Amino acid sequence: MPRRRFARHLPSALALTAFLAAPLGLVPPGLVPIGTAYAQDDGARLFRRCTSCHTTEQGGANKAGPNLWGVVGATSAARDTGFNYSPALREAALEWNDETLDQWLADPRAFVPGSRMPIGIARPEQRQALIAYLKEVTR
Ligand code: HEC
Repeated sequence: MPRRRFARHLPSALALTAFLAAPLGLVPPGLVPIGTAYAQDDGARLFRRCTSCHTTEQGGANKAGPNLWGVVGATSAARDTGFNYSPALREAALEWNDETLDQWLADPRAFVPGSRMPIGIARPEQRQALIAYLKEVTR
């Protein structure tokens, strides 16, 4: 009898364990609600995928991609970075906001055909964390 009762409660026991483990970072980041402090830390961690090509500080160097200081709210390929942008990104003249950055980061070359950033981030919650991070460190 006690054993059967335990089995009946097992699913909720597992849900409770996941709930308690989430703030400790013991579950995959994708399961943690967006907008928490945890998501912000996640942005810094995820941005390591970008640092081979981008710096974020004011006056920072261009690498394989442009320095990103002041990018949020700016027009695509229009900041004074001295970077050799693709004509496609210049002509797109996008305003970088939550939506355009989300689409860009998902698949840059599909969003702006002819542009030259070679990586995309498939998971929406990771893009959100990256955009939050960019807003924080590039102004
Ligand atoms: C392999 C190099 C590379 C990596 C890695 C990379 N980028 Fe880029 N990024 C570029 C290039 C090149 C451009 C300019 C594209 C063009 O001119 O068409 C660019 C442009 C951008 C722009 C637009 C800049 C502007 O002035 O309009 C943003 C925003 C951006 N990248 C964010 C990111 C983020 C966030 C990551 C990490 C998830 C990332 N990039 C990873 C190469 C890279």
